[in-house]
Amino acid sequence: MRFTFLATIVGLAVGALAQSSAADAYVASEGPIAKTGVIANIGSSGSKSHGAKASASPSTSNPDYLYSWTRDSALVFKALIDQFTSGEDTTLRNLIDDYTTSSGRLQQVSNPSGTVSTGGLGEPKFNIDESAFTGAWGRPQRDGPALRATAIITYANWLLDNSNSTYVTQTLWPIIKLDLDYVQNNWNQTGFDLWEEVNSSSFFTTAVQHRALREGATFAARIGQTSVVSGYTTQAANVLCFLQSYWNPSAGYITANTGGGRSGKDSNTVLTSVHTFDPAAGCDASTFQPCSDKALSNLKVYVDSFRSIYAINSGIAANAAVATGRYPEDSYQGGNPWYLTTIAVSEQLYDALIVWDKLGSINVTAVSLPFFQQFSSSVAVGTYASSSATYTTLTTAIRTFADGFIAVNAKYTPANGGLAEQYDRASGAPVSAVDLTWSYAATLTAFHARGGKTYASWGAAGLAVPATCSTSGSGSSGGAGTVAVTFNVQATTVYGENIYITGSVDALQNWSPDNALILSAANYPTWSITVNLPATTAVQYKFIRKYNGATTWESDPNNQITTPASGSATQADTWR
Ligand code: NOJ
Ligand code: NOJ
Repeated sequence: MRFTFLATIVGLAVGALAQSSAADAYVASEGPIAKTGVIANIGSSGSKSHGAKASASPSTSNPDYLYSWTRDSALVFKALIDQFTSGEDTTLRNLIDDYTTSSGRLQQVSNPSGTVSTGGLGEPKFNIDESAFTGAWGRPQRDGPALRATAIITYANWLLDNSNSTYVTQTLWPIIKLDLDYVQNNWNQTGFDLWEEVNSSSFFTTAVQHRALREGATFAARIGQTSVVSGYTTQAANVLCFLQSYWNPSAGYITANTGGGRSGKDSNTVLTSVHTFDPAAGCDASTFQPCSDKALSNLKVYVDSFRSIYAINSGIAANAAVATGRYPEDSYQGGNPWYLTTIAVSEQLYDALIVWDKLGSINVTAVSLPFFQQFSSSVAVGTYASSSATYTTLTTAIRTFADGFIAVNAKYTPANGGLAEQYDRASGAPVSAVDLTWSYAATLTAFHARGGKTYASWGAAGLAVPATCSTSGSGSSGGAGTVAVTFNVQATTVYGENIYITGSVDALQNWSPDNALILSAANYPTWSITVNLPATTAVQYKFIRKYNGATTWESDPNNQITTPASGSATQADTWR
Protein backbone atom coordinates (compact mmCIF):
# COMPACT_ATOMS: atom_id res chain seq x y z
CA MET A 1 0.00 0.00 0.00
CA ARG A 2 2.65 2.41 1.08
CA PHE A 3 4.74 1.36 -1.87
CA THR A 4 1.91 1.98 -4.36
CA PHE A 5 1.32 5.39 -2.85
CA LEU A 6 4.98 6.26 -3.22
CA ALA A 7 5.05 4.93 -6.74
CA THR A 8 2.10 7.14 -7.63
CA ILE A 9 3.78 10.21 -6.23
CA VAL A 10 6.98 9.43 -8.08
CA GLY A 11 5.02 8.73 -11.26
CA LEU A 12 3.24 12.07 -11.01
CA ALA A 13 6.45 13.93 -10.31
CA VAL A 14 8.22 12.32 -13.24
CA GLY A 15 5.25 13.07 -15.52
CA ALA A 16 5.20 16.68 -14.38
CA LEU A 17 8.93 17.04 -14.87
CA ALA A 18 8.73 15.53 -18.33
CA GLN A 19 6.06 17.99 -19.46
CA SER A 20 7.94 20.96 -18.13
CA SER A 21 11.32 19.96 -19.41
CA ALA A 22 9.81 19.16 -22.81
CA ALA A 23 8.29 22.65 -22.75
CA ASP A 24 11.61 24.20 -21.68
CA ALA A 25 13.41 22.46 -24.51
CA TYR A 26 10.78 23.50 -27.05
CA VAL A 27 10.85 27.14 -25.94
CA ALA A 28 14.60 27.14 -26.41
CA SER A 29 14.61 25.47 -29.82
CA GLU A 30 11.35 26.70 -31.33
CA GLY A 31 11.45 30.31 -30.07
CA PRO A 32 14.06 31.49 -32.58
CA ILE A 33 12.50 29.40 -35.37
CA ALA A 34 9.08 30.92 -34.73
CA LYS A 35 10.49 34.44 -34.82
CA THR A 36 12.34 33.73 -38.07
CA GLY A 37 9.20 32.08 -39.41
CA VAL A 38 7.12 35.21 -38.85
CA ILE A 39 9.72 37.54 -40.33
CA ALA A 40 10.16 35.34 -43.42
CA ASN A 41 6.48 35.74 -44.34
CA ILE A 42 6.20 39.51 -43.99
CA GLY A 43 7.80 42.63 -45.40
CA SER A 44 8.84 43.27 -48.99
CA SER A 45 12.12 41.47 -48.40
CA GLY A 46 10.80 38.54 -46.36
CA SER A 47 12.43 35.36 -47.69
CA LYS A 48 9.05 33.66 -48.17
CA SER A 49 6.75 36.69 -48.40
CA HIS A 50 6.74 37.04 -52.19
CA GLY A 51 6.89 40.76 -51.55
CA ALA A 52 3.74 40.82 -49.41
CA LYS A 53 3.62 43.21 -46.47
CA ALA A 54 2.03 40.31 -44.64
CA SER A 55 0.98 36.94 -45.96
CA ALA A 56 -0.84 34.19 -44.11
CA SER A 57 1.48 31.47 -45.44
CA PRO A 58 3.71 30.93 -48.50
CA SER A 59 1.49 28.00 -49.49
CA THR A 60 0.07 28.62 -52.98
CA SER A 61 -2.09 25.54 -53.40
CA ASN A 62 -4.27 23.27 -51.29
CA PRO A 63 -4.73 25.62 -49.58
CA ASP A 64 -3.69 28.79 -51.36
CA TYR A 65 -2.87 31.12 -48.47
CA LEU A 66 -0.63 33.59 -50.24
CA TYR A 67 -2.94 36.51 -49.40
CA SER A 68 -3.00 39.25 -46.82
CA TRP A 69 -5.77 38.51 -44.35
CA THR A 70 -6.70 41.52 -42.23
CA ARG A 71 -7.11 39.33 -39.14
CA ASP A 72 -3.91 37.30 -39.48
CA SER A 73 -1.87 40.42 -40.24
CA ALA A 74 -3.27 42.34 -37.28
CA LEU A 75 -2.71 39.49 -34.81
CA VAL A 76 0.80 38.89 -36.07
CA PHE A 77 1.73 42.58 -36.04
CA LYS A 78 0.23 43.07 -32.59
CA ALA A 79 2.70 40.46 -31.36
CA LEU A 80 5.58 42.23 -33.13
CA ILE A 81 4.43 45.67 -31.94
CA ASP A 82 4.39 44.36 -28.36
CA GLN A 83 7.95 43.14 -28.82
CA PHE A 84 9.01 46.46 -30.30
CA THR A 85 7.29 48.79 -27.84
CA SER A 86 8.50 46.77 -24.85
CA GLY A 87 12.08 47.19 -26.06
CA GLU A 88 12.52 43.49 -26.58
CA ASP A 89 13.29 43.83 -30.28
CA THR A 90 14.13 47.33 -31.47
CA THR A 91 14.80 46.22 -35.05
CA LEU A 92 11.15 45.82 -36.03
CA ARG A 93 10.25 49.43 -36.66
CA ASN A 94 10.55 49.44 -40.45
CA LEU A 95 8.37 46.37 -40.76
CA ILE A 96 5.77 47.95 -38.48
CA ASP A 97 5.80 51.20 -40.46
CA ASP A 98 5.31 49.22 -43.66
CA TYR A 99 2.35 47.46 -42.07
CA THR A 100 0.61 50.65 -40.99
CA THR A 101 1.22 52.28 -44.37
CA SER A 102 -0.05 49.22 -46.20
CA SER A 103 -3.10 49.15 -43.92
CA GLY A 104 -3.92 52.73 -44.90
CA ARG A 105 -3.78 51.80 -48.56
CA LEU A 106 -5.80 48.59 -48.17
CA GLN A 107 -8.57 50.50 -46.39
CA GLN A 108 -9.08 52.54 -49.58
CA VAL A 109 -9.27 49.55 -51.96
CA SER A 110 -12.80 48.97 -53.21
CA ASN A 111 -13.63 45.31 -52.88
CA PRO A 112 -16.61 42.95 -52.92
CA SER A 113 -17.61 44.08 -49.39
CA GLY A 114 -17.82 47.71 -50.51
CA THR A 115 -15.79 50.90 -50.58
CA VAL A 116 -14.05 52.46 -47.62
CA SER A 117 -17.29 54.17 -46.66
CA THR A 118 -19.79 51.45 -47.60
CA GLY A 119 -18.54 48.40 -45.74
CA GLY A 120 -15.27 47.62 -47.56
CA LEU A 121 -13.35 47.62 -44.27
CA GLY A 122 -15.00 44.30 -43.47
CA GLU A 123 -13.31 42.57 -46.41
CA PRO A 124 -11.36 39.60 -45.01
CA LYS A 125 -8.44 39.26 -47.42
CA PHE A 126 -6.57 40.95 -50.26
CA ASN A 127 -4.15 39.86 -52.95
CA ILE A 128 -0.56 40.39 -51.87
CA ASP A 129 -0.13 43.21 -54.40
CA GLU A 130 -2.82 45.06 -52.36
CA SER A 131 -5.52 44.66 -55.00
CA ALA A 132 -8.97 43.34 -54.14
CA PHE A 133 -9.60 39.60 -54.01
CA THR A 134 -12.79 39.17 -56.00
CA GLY A 135 -13.46 35.45 -55.67
CA ALA A 136 -16.28 34.01 -53.59
CA TRP A 137 -15.51 34.14 -49.85
CA GLY A 138 -17.16 34.32 -46.44
CA ARG A 139 -17.51 38.08 -46.23
CA PRO A 140 -17.68 40.43 -44.50
CA GLN A 141 -15.64 39.50 -41.43
CA ARG A 142 -15.95 42.23 -38.84
CA ASP A 143 -13.11 41.34 -36.48
CA GLY A 144 -10.44 42.65 -38.87
CA PRO A 145 -10.91 46.42 -38.41
CA ALA A 146 -11.06 46.01 -34.62
CA LEU A 147 -7.87 43.92 -34.46
CA ARG A 148 -6.07 46.31 -36.79
CA ALA A 149 -7.11 49.32 -34.67
CA THR A 150 -5.82 47.56 -31.55
CA ALA A 151 -2.45 46.81 -33.17
CA ILE A 152 -1.95 50.32 -34.54
CA ILE A 153 -3.12 52.03 -31.33
CA THR A 154 -0.48 50.06 -29.41
CA TYR A 155 2.19 51.38 -31.74
CA ALA A 156 0.74 54.90 -31.74
CA ASN A 157 0.80 55.04 -27.94
CA TRP A 158 4.49 54.18 -28.01
CA LEU A 159 5.12 56.89 -30.61
CA LEU A 160 3.34 59.42 -28.40
CA ASP A 161 5.45 58.33 -25.43
CA ASN A 162 8.46 58.95 -27.63
CA SER A 163 7.34 62.39 -28.82
CA ASN A 164 6.32 61.58 -32.35
CA SER A 165 2.85 63.04 -32.10
CA THR A 166 2.65 64.67 -35.53
CA TYR A 167 2.98 61.33 -37.31
CA VAL A 168 0.39 59.87 -34.97
CA THR A 169 -2.22 62.57 -35.41
CA GLN A 170 -1.67 63.16 -39.11
CA THR A 171 -0.96 59.69 -40.43
CA LEU A 172 -2.04 56.99 -37.99
CA TRP A 173 -5.15 58.57 -36.49
CA PRO A 174 -7.06 58.73 -39.81
CA ILE A 175 -6.41 55.00 -40.30
CA ILE A 176 -7.37 54.12 -36.74
CA LYS A 177 -10.49 56.28 -36.88
CA LEU A 178 -11.81 54.61 -40.04
CA ASP A 179 -11.56 51.23 -38.36
CA LEU A 180 -13.08 52.40 -35.07
CA ASP A 181 -15.95 54.16 -36.84
CA TYR A 182 -16.60 50.96 -38.75
CA VAL A 183 -16.73 49.02 -35.48
CA GLN A 184 -18.94 51.62 -33.84
CA ASN A 185 -21.38 51.58 -36.74
CA ASN A 186 -21.42 47.89 -37.61
CA TRP A 187 -20.81 45.81 -34.50
CA ASN A 188 -24.48 44.93 -34.32
CA GLN A 189 -24.50 43.55 -37.87
CA THR A 190 -23.87 39.89 -38.55
CA GLY A 191 -20.82 38.68 -40.49
CA PHE A 192 -18.58 35.65 -40.86
CA ASP A 193 -16.68 34.32 -37.84
CA LEU A 194 -12.91 34.12 -37.64
CA TRP A 195 -12.99 30.66 -39.23
CA GLU A 196 -14.81 32.20 -42.22
CA GLU A 197 -17.68 29.74 -42.06
CA VAL A 198 -20.55 30.89 -39.85
CA ASN A 199 -22.53 34.00 -40.78
CA SER A 200 -23.95 35.30 -37.50
CA SER A 201 -22.68 37.17 -34.48
CA SER A 202 -19.47 35.69 -33.08
CA PHE A 203 -17.96 35.89 -29.61
CA PHE A 204 -14.38 36.58 -30.73
CA THR A 205 -15.55 39.32 -33.06
CA THR A 206 -17.77 40.95 -30.43
CA ALA A 207 -15.02 40.79 -27.79
CA VAL A 208 -12.29 42.28 -29.95
CA GLN A 209 -14.71 44.98 -31.09
CA HIS A 210 -15.34 45.84 -27.44
CA ARG A 211 -11.64 46.07 -26.73
CA ALA A 212 -10.99 48.27 -29.78
CA LEU A 213 -13.74 50.72 -28.86
CA ARG A 214 -12.52 51.00 -25.26
CA GLU A 215 -8.90 51.63 -26.10
CA GLY A 216 -9.97 53.71 -29.07
CA ALA A 217 -11.92 56.06 -26.78
CA THR A 218 -8.96 56.42 -24.41
CA PHE A 219 -6.56 56.93 -27.27
CA ALA A 220 -8.77 59.53 -28.98
CA ALA A 221 -8.99 61.46 -25.71
CA ARG A 222 -5.22 61.28 -25.35
CA ILE A 223 -4.66 63.00 -28.69
CA GLY A 224 -7.45 65.53 -28.18
CA GLN A 225 -9.95 63.95 -30.60
CA THR A 226 -12.69 64.34 -28.03
CA SER A 227 -15.64 64.40 -30.44
CA VAL A 228 -15.55 60.63 -30.97
CA VAL A 229 -15.08 59.63 -27.35
CA SER A 230 -18.68 59.49 -26.22
CA GLY A 231 -19.83 57.60 -29.32
CA TYR A 232 -17.14 54.95 -28.89
CA THR A 233 -17.79 54.70 -25.16
CA THR A 234 -21.54 54.37 -25.56
CA GLN A 235 -21.22 51.62 -28.13
CA ALA A 236 -18.51 49.89 -26.08
CA ALA A 237 -20.99 49.57 -23.22
CA ASN A 238 -23.59 48.15 -25.60
CA VAL A 239 -21.09 45.67 -27.00
CA LEU A 240 -20.05 44.59 -23.50
CA CYS A 241 -23.69 44.02 -22.68
CA PHE A 242 -24.22 41.87 -25.77
CA LEU A 243 -21.00 39.98 -25.04
CA GLN A 244 -22.59 38.51 -21.91
CA SER A 245 -25.27 36.76 -23.97
CA TYR A 246 -22.78 34.20 -25.37
CA TRP A 247 -22.33 32.62 -21.95
CA ASN A 248 -24.23 29.38 -21.61
CA PRO A 249 -24.76 29.01 -17.85
CA SER A 250 -26.30 25.56 -17.77
CA ALA A 251 -23.43 23.97 -19.69
CA GLY A 252 -20.64 26.18 -18.36
CA TYR A 253 -19.18 27.36 -21.64
CA ILE A 254 -19.24 30.22 -24.08
CA THR A 255 -21.24 29.52 -27.23
CA ALA A 256 -18.94 30.77 -29.95
CA ASN A 257 -21.48 31.91 -32.52
CA THR A 258 -25.15 32.86 -32.47
CA GLY A 259 -25.61 30.83 -35.65
CA GLY A 260 -23.94 27.80 -37.13
CA GLY A 261 -25.93 24.98 -35.60
CA ARG A 262 -22.96 23.42 -33.80
CA SER A 263 -22.17 22.70 -30.18
CA GLY A 264 -20.60 26.15 -30.00
CA LYS A 265 -17.48 24.78 -28.26
CA ASP A 266 -14.77 26.61 -30.13
CA SER A 267 -11.23 27.89 -29.85
CA ASN A 268 -12.75 31.24 -30.82
CA THR A 269 -13.38 31.64 -27.07
CA VAL A 270 -9.89 30.72 -25.90
CA LEU A 271 -8.37 33.08 -28.45
CA THR A 272 -10.66 35.76 -27.08
CA SER A 273 -9.31 35.40 -23.54
CA VAL A 274 -5.77 35.51 -24.88
CA HIS A 275 -6.26 38.48 -27.20
CA THR A 276 -8.32 40.53 -24.78
CA PHE A 277 -6.14 39.73 -21.77
CA ASP A 278 -5.66 42.82 -19.63
CA PRO A 279 -3.20 42.23 -16.78
CA ALA A 280 -4.86 45.07 -14.84
CA ALA A 281 -8.35 43.57 -14.93
CA GLY A 282 -7.88 40.76 -12.41
CA CYS A 283 -10.14 37.78 -13.00
CA ASP A 284 -13.02 39.86 -14.32
CA ALA A 285 -15.68 37.62 -15.85
CA SER A 286 -17.59 40.26 -17.80
CA THR A 287 -14.60 40.61 -20.15
CA PHE A 288 -13.82 36.87 -19.88
CA GLN A 289 -10.31 37.43 -18.57
CA PRO A 290 -8.07 34.32 -18.73
CA CYS A 291 -8.43 33.61 -14.98
CA SER A 292 -12.15 34.43 -14.79
CA ASP A 293 -14.37 31.62 -13.62
CA LYS A 294 -16.31 31.65 -16.88
CA ALA A 295 -13.22 31.50 -19.09
CA LEU A 296 -11.75 28.65 -17.01
CA SER A 297 -14.95 26.63 -17.01
CA ASN A 298 -15.14 27.23 -20.76
CA LEU A 299 -11.54 26.15 -21.24
CA LYS A 300 -12.21 22.78 -19.63
CA VAL A 301 -15.31 22.14 -21.73
CA TYR A 302 -13.45 23.19 -24.88
CA VAL A 303 -10.38 21.03 -24.22
CA ASP A 304 -12.47 18.02 -23.19
CA SER A 305 -14.37 18.16 -26.47
CA PHE A 306 -11.21 16.95 -28.28
CA ARG A 307 -10.21 14.12 -25.95
CA SER A 308 -12.11 11.36 -27.69
CA ILE A 309 -12.27 12.62 -31.27
CA TYR A 310 -8.57 12.66 -32.22
CA ALA A 311 -6.74 9.33 -32.27
CA ILE A 312 -3.51 11.04 -31.15
CA ASN A 313 -5.26 11.99 -27.90
CA SER A 314 -6.24 8.47 -26.96
CA GLY A 315 -4.80 7.04 -23.78
CA ILE A 316 -4.08 10.48 -22.32
CA ALA A 317 -5.34 11.00 -18.76
CA ALA A 318 -8.57 13.00 -18.45
CA ASN A 319 -6.80 15.87 -16.70
CA ALA A 320 -3.71 16.04 -18.91
CA ALA A 321 -3.04 18.16 -21.98
CA VAL A 322 -4.25 17.04 -25.41
CA ALA A 323 -4.14 18.37 -28.95
CA THR A 324 -7.02 20.74 -29.71
CA GLY A 325 -8.53 22.14 -32.87
CA ARG A 326 -10.78 24.97 -33.98
CA TYR A 327 -13.99 23.22 -32.90
CA PRO A 328 -14.90 19.56 -32.55
CA GLU A 329 -17.19 19.43 -35.60
CA ASP A 330 -14.49 20.86 -37.90
CA SER A 331 -13.80 18.99 -41.14
CA TYR A 332 -11.67 21.54 -43.02
CA GLN A 333 -8.53 19.83 -44.42
CA GLY A 334 -9.57 16.76 -42.47
CA GLY A 335 -10.60 18.54 -39.27
CA ASN A 336 -7.39 18.23 -37.31
CA PRO A 337 -5.66 19.74 -34.31
CA TRP A 338 -4.12 23.15 -34.97
CA TYR A 339 -0.81 24.39 -33.58
CA LEU A 340 -2.22 27.82 -32.81
CA THR A 341 -5.31 26.58 -30.98
CA THR A 342 -3.39 24.06 -28.87
CA ILE A 343 -0.81 26.60 -27.83
CA ALA A 344 -3.50 29.20 -27.10
CA VAL A 345 -4.73 26.92 -24.30
CA SER A 346 -1.33 27.15 -22.66
CA GLU A 347 -1.25 30.91 -23.15
CA GLN A 348 -4.60 31.39 -21.41
CA LEU A 349 -3.30 29.36 -18.47
CA TYR A 350 0.01 31.24 -18.26
CA ASP A 351 -1.92 34.53 -18.32
CA ALA A 352 -4.09 33.22 -15.50
CA LEU A 353 -1.03 32.24 -13.47
CA ILE A 354 0.44 35.72 -13.93
CA VAL A 355 -2.70 37.33 -12.54
CA TRP A 356 -3.14 34.96 -9.60
CA ASP A 357 0.43 35.66 -8.66
CA LYS A 358 -0.24 39.37 -8.87
CA LEU A 359 -3.47 39.13 -6.86
CA GLY A 360 -1.85 36.83 -4.29
CA SER A 361 -4.77 34.41 -4.35
CA ILE A 362 -7.01 32.12 -6.36
CA ASN A 363 -10.76 32.40 -6.06
CA VAL A 364 -12.60 29.16 -6.81
CA THR A 365 -16.29 29.73 -7.57
CA ALA A 366 -19.10 27.29 -8.25
CA VAL A 367 -18.58 28.08 -11.94
CA SER A 368 -14.84 27.34 -11.99
CA LEU A 369 -14.92 24.42 -9.53
CA PRO A 370 -14.94 21.69 -12.22
CA PHE A 371 -11.88 23.27 -13.81
CA PHE A 372 -9.95 23.31 -10.53
CA GLN A 373 -11.08 19.83 -9.52
CA GLN A 374 -8.97 18.50 -12.38
CA PHE A 375 -5.94 19.44 -10.31
CA SER A 376 -7.16 18.64 -6.81
CA SER A 377 -10.24 16.51 -6.30
CA SER A 378 -10.71 17.91 -2.79
CA VAL A 379 -10.65 21.60 -3.68
CA ALA A 380 -13.78 23.51 -2.65
CA VAL A 381 -15.31 26.87 -3.45
CA GLY A 382 -13.33 29.56 -1.65
CA THR A 383 -10.35 31.88 -1.83
CA TYR A 384 -6.86 30.43 -1.45
CA ALA A 385 -4.09 32.84 -0.51
CA SER A 386 -0.70 32.37 -2.13
CA SER A 387 0.65 31.28 1.27
CA SER A 388 -1.71 28.28 1.36
CA ALA A 389 -0.84 24.74 0.40
CA THR A 390 -3.88 24.60 -1.90
CA TYR A 391 -2.61 27.60 -3.86
CA THR A 392 0.73 25.88 -4.36
CA THR A 393 -0.88 22.60 -5.35
CA LEU A 394 -3.18 24.28 -7.86
CA THR A 395 -0.68 26.63 -9.45
CA THR A 396 1.98 23.93 -9.74
CA ALA A 397 -0.44 21.53 -11.39
CA ILE A 398 -1.87 24.21 -13.68
CA ARG A 399 1.59 25.21 -14.86
CA THR A 400 2.35 21.57 -15.60
CA PHE A 401 -0.97 21.28 -17.42
CA ALA A 402 -0.13 24.41 -19.47
CA ASP A 403 3.34 23.08 -20.26
CA GLY A 404 1.62 19.92 -21.43
CA PHE A 405 -0.05 21.75 -24.34
CA ILE A 406 3.35 23.06 -25.38
CA ALA A 407 4.73 19.54 -25.11
CA VAL A 408 1.93 18.25 -27.35
CA ASN A 409 2.81 20.77 -30.07
CA ALA A 410 6.49 19.97 -29.55
CA LYS A 411 5.80 16.30 -30.12
CA TYR A 412 4.13 17.04 -33.46
CA THR A 413 6.56 19.69 -34.69
CA PRO A 414 8.79 18.28 -37.45
CA ALA A 415 12.55 18.24 -37.00
CA ASN A 416 13.11 21.49 -38.92
CA GLY A 417 10.75 23.33 -36.54
CA GLY A 418 8.37 24.42 -39.33
CA LEU A 419 4.82 25.09 -38.16
CA ALA A 420 2.02 24.37 -40.58
CA GLU A 421 -1.60 25.13 -39.82
CA GLN A 422 -2.64 21.69 -38.56
CA TYR A 423 -1.30 18.26 -37.66
CA ASP A 424 -3.01 15.06 -38.56
CA ARG A 425 -5.51 13.80 -35.99
CA ALA A 426 -4.29 10.21 -36.39
CA SER A 427 -0.62 10.39 -37.35
CA GLY A 428 0.38 13.79 -35.99
CA ALA A 429 2.06 14.70 -39.30
CA PRO A 430 1.81 18.35 -40.40
CA VAL A 431 -1.25 19.12 -42.56
CA SER A 432 -2.55 22.07 -44.63
CA ALA A 433 -0.72 25.38 -45.16
CA VAL A 434 3.01 25.22 -44.39
CA ASP A 435 4.76 27.93 -42.40
CA LEU A 436 1.56 29.54 -41.19
CA THR A 437 2.50 33.03 -39.98
CA TRP A 438 -0.18 32.89 -37.31
CA SER A 439 1.11 29.52 -35.98
CA TYR A 440 4.50 31.11 -35.42
CA ALA A 441 3.07 34.27 -33.85
CA ALA A 442 0.82 32.27 -31.52
CA THR A 443 3.84 30.25 -30.45
CA LEU A 444 5.82 33.39 -29.69
CA THR A 445 3.06 35.00 -27.61
CA ALA A 446 2.51 31.79 -25.61
CA PHE A 447 6.24 31.57 -24.88
CA HIS A 448 6.21 35.18 -23.69
CA ALA A 449 3.31 34.53 -21.37
CA ARG A 450 5.11 31.46 -20.05
CA GLY A 451 8.01 33.73 -19.22
CA GLY A 452 5.66 35.97 -17.22
CA LYS A 453 5.61 38.85 -19.72
CA THR A 454 2.61 41.15 -19.93
CA TYR A 455 1.88 44.15 -22.10
CA ALA A 456 -0.15 47.33 -21.79
CA SER A 457 -3.61 47.35 -20.24
CA TRP A 458 -6.50 48.31 -22.52
CA GLY A 459 -8.96 49.46 -19.90
CA ALA A 460 -10.82 46.28 -18.99
CA ALA A 461 -10.63 46.89 -15.25
CA GLY A 462 -13.80 47.75 -13.38
CA LEU A 463 -16.16 48.07 -16.31
CA ALA A 464 -19.87 48.07 -15.57
CA VAL A 465 -22.18 45.94 -17.68
CA PRO A 466 -25.33 47.94 -18.44
CA ALA A 467 -28.45 46.48 -16.83
CA THR A 468 -30.30 46.35 -20.14
CA CYS A 469 -28.69 45.96 -23.50
CA SER A 470 -29.23 48.28 -26.40
CA THR A 471 -28.15 46.81 -29.68
CA SER A 472 -28.70 49.77 -31.94
CA GLY A 473 -25.40 50.91 -33.37
CA SER A 474 -25.14 54.65 -33.88
CA GLY A 475 -24.63 54.94 -37.58
CA SER A 476 -26.34 51.92 -39.03
CA SER A 477 -29.78 50.94 -40.22
CA GLY A 478 -30.40 54.50 -41.41
CA GLY A 479 -33.90 54.28 -42.78
CA ALA A 480 -33.61 50.79 -44.31
CA GLY A 481 -37.13 49.46 -44.61
CA THR A 482 -38.80 46.85 -42.48
CA VAL A 483 -41.35 44.23 -43.35
CA ALA A 484 -43.99 42.66 -41.11
CA VAL A 485 -43.26 38.98 -40.59
CA THR A 486 -45.79 36.70 -38.92
CA PHE A 487 -44.35 33.66 -37.18
CA ASN A 488 -46.77 30.79 -36.63
CA VAL A 489 -45.52 27.74 -34.78
CA GLN A 490 -47.42 24.60 -33.86
CA ALA A 491 -46.60 23.80 -30.26
CA THR A 492 -48.39 21.80 -27.63
CA THR A 493 -47.93 23.27 -24.19
CA VAL A 494 -49.09 22.67 -20.65
CA TYR A 495 -50.99 25.21 -18.60
CA GLY A 496 -48.66 28.05 -17.55
CA GLU A 497 -46.14 27.28 -20.26
CA ASN A 498 -45.48 29.90 -22.97
CA ILE A 499 -43.71 30.04 -26.33
CA TYR A 500 -41.25 32.81 -27.16
CA ILE A 501 -39.07 33.72 -30.12
CA THR A 502 -35.58 35.14 -30.32
CA GLY A 503 -33.09 35.42 -33.16
CA SER A 504 -30.24 37.07 -34.94
CA VAL A 505 -31.51 40.65 -35.23
CA ASP A 506 -32.44 43.50 -32.90
CA ALA A 507 -36.13 43.06 -33.53
CA LEU A 508 -35.82 39.47 -32.29
CA GLN A 509 -33.71 40.48 -29.28
CA ASN A 510 -30.41 39.15 -30.61
CA TRP A 511 -30.63 35.63 -29.28
CA SER A 512 -31.42 36.71 -25.76
CA PRO A 513 -33.62 34.12 -24.05
CA ASP A 514 -34.33 36.62 -21.27
CA ASN A 515 -35.64 39.25 -23.66
CA ALA A 516 -37.28 36.83 -26.10
CA LEU A 517 -40.70 37.94 -27.42
CA ILE A 518 -43.77 36.08 -26.19
CA LEU A 519 -46.18 34.62 -28.77
CA SER A 520 -49.95 34.68 -28.55
CA ALA A 521 -51.90 31.45 -28.02
CA ALA A 522 -55.17 32.91 -29.33
CA ASN A 523 -55.28 30.16 -31.99
CA TYR A 524 -53.77 27.36 -29.87
CA PRO A 525 -52.03 25.06 -30.71
CA THR A 526 -50.80 27.66 -33.19
CA TRP A 527 -48.71 30.25 -31.35
CA SER A 528 -48.27 33.49 -33.21
CA ILE A 529 -46.52 36.85 -33.33
CA THR A 530 -45.95 39.54 -35.96
CA VAL A 531 -42.62 41.37 -35.85
CA ASN A 532 -41.18 44.13 -38.03
CA LEU A 533 -37.89 42.79 -39.39
CA PRO A 534 -35.29 44.49 -41.57
CA ALA A 535 -36.09 44.01 -45.27
CA THR A 536 -33.95 41.80 -47.55
CA THR A 537 -32.08 40.24 -44.66
CA ALA A 538 -31.25 36.65 -43.74
CA VAL A 539 -32.61 36.27 -40.22
CA GLN A 540 -32.07 33.24 -38.01
CA TYR A 541 -34.40 32.42 -35.16
CA LYS A 542 -35.58 29.83 -32.70
CA PHE A 543 -38.58 29.31 -30.50
CA ILE A 544 -38.18 28.87 -26.76
CA ARG A 545 -40.46 27.42 -24.09
CA LYS A 546 -40.56 28.89 -20.62
CA TYR A 547 -42.25 27.05 -17.82
CA ASN A 548 -41.81 27.38 -14.06
CA GLY A 549 -38.62 29.41 -14.47
CA ALA A 550 -37.05 26.88 -16.84
CA THR A 551 -36.14 27.79 -20.41
CA THR A 552 -36.03 25.17 -23.18
CA TRP A 553 -34.63 25.95 -26.61
CA GLU A 554 -35.74 24.29 -29.81
CA SER A 555 -33.17 21.82 -31.08
CA ASP A 556 -30.67 22.82 -33.78
CA PRO A 557 -30.34 23.95 -36.45
CA ASN A 558 -31.68 27.50 -36.36
CA ASN A 559 -34.74 28.40 -38.41
CA GLN A 560 -34.11 30.94 -41.10
CA ILE A 561 -36.06 33.42 -43.17
CA THR A 562 -34.74 35.78 -45.80
CA THR A 563 -37.09 38.70 -45.58
CA PRO A 564 -38.58 40.22 -48.75
CA ALA A 565 -37.69 43.72 -49.93
CA SER A 566 -41.16 45.01 -49.07
CA GLY A 567 -44.62 43.88 -48.04
CA SER A 568 -45.02 41.10 -45.51
CA ALA A 569 -44.25 37.43 -44.99
CA THR A 570 -45.54 34.48 -42.98
CA GLN A 571 -43.52 31.59 -41.57
CA ALA A 572 -45.13 28.29 -40.64
CA ASP A 573 -43.05 26.17 -38.27
CA THR A 574 -43.56 23.21 -36.01
CA TRP A 575 -41.80 23.15 -32.62
CA ARG A 576 -38.66 21.03 -32.77
C1 NOJ B 1 -11.38 28.49 -46.24
C2 NOJ B 1 -11.25 29.13 -44.91
O1 NOJ B 1 -10.04 29.80 -44.85
C3 NOJ B 1 -11.35 28.11 -43.82
O2 NOJ B 1 -11.34 28.75 -42.58
C4 NOJ B 1 -12.61 27.33 -43.96
O3 NOJ B 1 -12.67 26.35 -42.95
C5 NOJ B 1 -12.70 26.71 -45.32
N1 NOJ B 1 -12.59 27.74 -46.33
C6 NOJ B 1 -13.94 25.88 -45.51
O4 NOJ B 1 -15.08 26.67 -45.47
C1 NOJ C 1 -8.18 29.80 -42.26
C2 NOJ C 1 -8.54 30.26 -40.90
O1 NOJ C 1 -9.73 29.66 -40.52
C3 NOJ C 1 -8.68 31.76 -40.87
O2 NOJ C 1 -8.95 32.17 -39.56
C4 NOJ C 1 -7.43 32.41 -41.35
O3 NOJ C 1 -7.65 33.80 -41.43
C5 NOJ C 1 -7.03 31.88 -42.71
N1 NOJ C 1 -7.02 30.45 -42.75
C6 NOJ C 1 -5.64 32.37 -43.10
O4 NOJ C 1 -4.71 31.91 -42.17
